[in-house]
Amino acid sequence: MSNLSKKRYTITSALPYANGPLHIGHLAGAYIPGDIFVRFLRLNNKDVVYVCGSDEHGAAITIRAKKEGLTPRDIIDKYNKQIKDSFQEFGISFDIYHRTSEPIHHELSQEFFLNLYEKGEFIEKISEQYYDEEFNQFLADRYITGTCPNCSAEGAYGDQCEKCGTSLSPTDLIKPKSTLSGKTPILRETKHWYLPLDKYQPWLEKWLIEGKKEVLKSNVFGQCSSWLKSGLQPRSMTRDLDWGVDVPLAEAEGKKLYVWLDAPIGYISATKQWAIDNNKNWEHYWKKQANPEDDSTLIHFIGKDNIVFHCIIFPAILHAHGEYILPDNVPANEFLNLEGDKLSTSRNHAVWLHEYLEEFPGKQDELRYVLTSILPETSDSEFTWKDFQSRVNNELVAILGNFVNRVMVLSHKYFDGKVLIGSPYNDTDKAVFAELEKYPALIEQSIGNYRFREAMSQFINAARLGNKYLADEEPWKVYKEDPERVKTVLNVATQIVANLAILAQPFLPKSATKLFDMLNLEAKGWDKAGSSDLIATEQQLGAVQLLFEKITDEQVEAQLTKLAEAKASNAKVITAAPAKENITFDDFMKLDIRIGTIIEAEKVAKTKKLLKLTIDTGIDHRTVVSGIAEFFKPEDIIGKQVSILVNLEPREIKGIQSQGMILMAEDGDGRLDFVNPNAGIQPGSTVR
Ligand code: 2FM
Ligand code: ZN
Repeated sequence: MSNLSKKRYTITSALPYANGPLHIGHLAGAYIPGDIFVRFLRLNNKDVVYVCGSDEHGAAITIRAKKEGLTPRDIIDKYNKQIKDSFQEFGISFDIYHRTSEPIHHELSQEFFLNLYEKGEFIEKISEQYYDEEFNQFLADRYITGTCPNCSAEGAYGDQCEKCGTSLSPTDLIKPKSTLSGKTPILRETKHWYLPLDKYQPWLEKWLIEGKKEVLKSNVFGQCSSWLKSGLQPRSMTRDLDWGVDVPLAEAEGKKLYVWLDAPIGYISATKQWAIDNNKNWEHYWKKQANPEDDSTLIHFIGKDNIVFHCIIFPAILHAHGEYILPDNVPANEFLNLEGDKLSTSRNHAVWLHEYLEEFPGKQDELRYVLTSILPETSDSEFTWKDFQSRVNNELVAILGNFVNRVMVLSHKYFDGKVLIGSPYNDTDKAVFAELEKYPALIEQSIGNYRFREAMSQFINAARLGNKYLADEEPWKVYKEDPERVKTVLNVATQIVANLAILAQPFLPKSATKLFDMLNLEAKGWDKAGSSDLIATEQQLGAVQLLFEKITDEQVEAQLTKLAEAKASNAKVITAAPAKENITFDDFMKLDIRIGTIIEAEKVAKTKKLLKLTIDTGIDHRTVVSGIAEFFKPEDIIGKQVSILVNLEPREIKGIQSQGMILMAEDGDGRLDFVNPNAGIQPGSTVR
């Protein structure tokens, strides 16, 4: 399965939706494995480009925007920056972190669509699709949920069940429900352009099932073959949405490309942008070359929920286009759980990367180490803070850190930091070198097979070898009687440290840099790993630096408390405020509350919360300023019926005369909703 012998590599990690921050589940799925792999390739002088970027289209973005009361543009700008900054600080070494909202991406996606369109690859179909009458919107993808027909999980999306990974169409869902109004949608006709996946089924079976059985991980192969077994169906590549890449056809005005068409093309447009910035030819990394030997090797690092898109749909698109290379492998990971429960963004049950970086400054490698050691490579795995603590303290600190520290401190103490040679190497020394020499190949084999956990444990075994050597030789005891032997022991130990510096580079890049600094040695490539003469005699070592610190019980407790608080706040029953003092019937009758209809709505300039509404009260058309802008978009509430207090003394708000007050219900979380009749009633009707 190993494939490290090629010249050129195109490596991608899934483009995260710019709709929320990153957590450790993302890191363990697509980013740490991708980064280790790429760092390894670079150390071996391969021609490699590593691309990623924000996925900024689709319902994932517009639904988030609605939830936060912001525009889709605000949402993608906000989260793109946050995600990009976290990746950078954490040290994921993308060559470019791009965005699918960039014009270069829109152009390339449209070019792709037109290429397939002109070849007659699409089927045009008018079909009935779910439509939310209250919101006047077709319900694609995440706008609709229901019961999964495959695994019976509730809350499956219109395009995919996140529980079992099955790819779905909205009409497959049992008991479909609009996520906008919560109501059962109706069916309405609309025209779309479908990719006939059924037509590519024979080709996919040959390319994937016959051709890749030996190279794909078993979890990936299993998902693909079960998908193919159930028979592929044509899949719509366009959507009725107002956010995304325009379908480049005159008759498709207002329609957008399906986000799963444009997102993987995002890998290509990111490469194009990188090539422009770095004076490279992007086609070398994506297109078939005259001599197939020169084709780049394309590898997608993803989480298991993206398998079908990367193994079936995107390859079918690339194949239909014809000029592009196909993925060599898609080493998808399963899911990471946290403290006995699924990671969940909505329940805030997560370790957020930006928070980790703030709370554990400088400890990027500690998280990389632990996550790599528990990657969900073949099945789901689990992160706990206790385990984090014990792996850092018992492995990084006690083995690697302790060994390096002893070598450095003793060298400075006995020989002023000079690496010397005394008595000749004895059999123990030679055996240690012989053992050390095996590690580069062992690690290489594991990385080449996408077994990063195994690779990491080989690395720590190499450190263990050094730690044991020093503990057995006890130079601190021998020094008095035989300083010549101690020179040699510390020489051997320092050669081991230098090897660890090389081997650490794909896994623990910050620590590798510190090791090279301490050794006063320039960073070296993988070909030098395994040597016993990396450090010349008389080499002067640098100052001792602390590699790792113990994680304290207090730090663990603080993290567990944080998770418990999130859980409690989720479980919090929002208790209603107590009733106010009684009033008389006459007091109540003084209030003149009517049903009105919103006929115009716009944001009040330079405010976050205010909308200026024009209300048909049945009596007149009047202006009301209402603090609901964080919850409702002006265009979404026109036509809505509301309850309005019409005899409230007019007030000036931000220079606008507000003539009345819209009644709103507010829950314990500060969320607002209208108090409105649900069957429709004449404006001007009184509320009593
Ligand atoms: O599942 C997701 O988060 C998607 N945004 C992944 C896209 S990967 C690629 F195709 F761009
Ligand atoms: Zn399912």
